[in-house]
Amino acid sequence: MRLRVLGLAGSPRRRGNTELLLDQVLAGAANRGAQTEKLILADMRIGPCRECDSCSETGRCVQQDDYQLLYPRLIKAERIVLAAPIFFTGLPAQAKAFIDRCQCFWARKHVLKDPLPSTDTGVQRQGFLVSTAGGADVSFQCAIRAVKAFLETLDAQYGGELSFPGVDEKGAILNHPTALEDAFALGKSLARPGEG
Ligand SMILES: Cc1cc2nc3c(=O)[nH]c(=O)nc-3n(C[C@H](O)[C@H](O)[C@H](O)COP(=O)(O)O)c2cc1C
Repeated sequence: MRLRVLGLAGSPRRRGNTELLLDQVLAGAANRGAQTEKLILADMRIGPCRECDSCSETGRCVQQDDYQLLYPRLIKAERIVLAAPIFFTGLPAQAKAFIDRCQCFWARKHVLKDPLPSTDTGVQRQGFLVSTAGGADVSFQCAIRAVKAFLETLDAQYGGELSFPGVDEKGAILNHPTALEDAFALGKSLARPGEG
């Protein structure tokens, strides 16, 4: 059974710390036979939610931008990995805009009572956060809570996070003693149906 692993790079900094980690997660997953896809949110045109409530009538978002590419992928992927650094204790705007646009999934489920279909394989959706922060004793909780809420909307389990404080300069994660290996190991575990 080949699982789909969708990696979302949520930092505005290309090839920065979280994207380097995401690459390792996806490499680990591919190494174990998963079908991987990586999308760079900062390179996509994803406007913020306008709270127009149209999704309460249709279950879909009316804004015709690159979020429309994400919608079907979010339904199909058994594993979703959001990689995003901590900005002012929370998620960067690019990642948050994407999450807010998932309000259409919330409306579909809670207003229209139209449940999401299960994945093609029938394997439970699971999601993960991969994050770094410059501060040595920073909390990742704000980002974790937002990601948990987003995953709940997709009927996805929260599988956990890989978070590294004290990582600031671009590429600083490369000097961490275990981070890249940890990320690769997480990726390998994602390819297996029963684990995350
Ligand atoms: C706008 C902005 C806000 C930030 N806010 C925080 C913060 O609140 N706490 C913290 O520890 N680091 C903060 N940082 C540092 C980043 O979290 C850190 O550099 C991270 O490793 C960047 O990951 P990236 O290379 O994937 O973008 C901030 C950086 C920027 C640019």
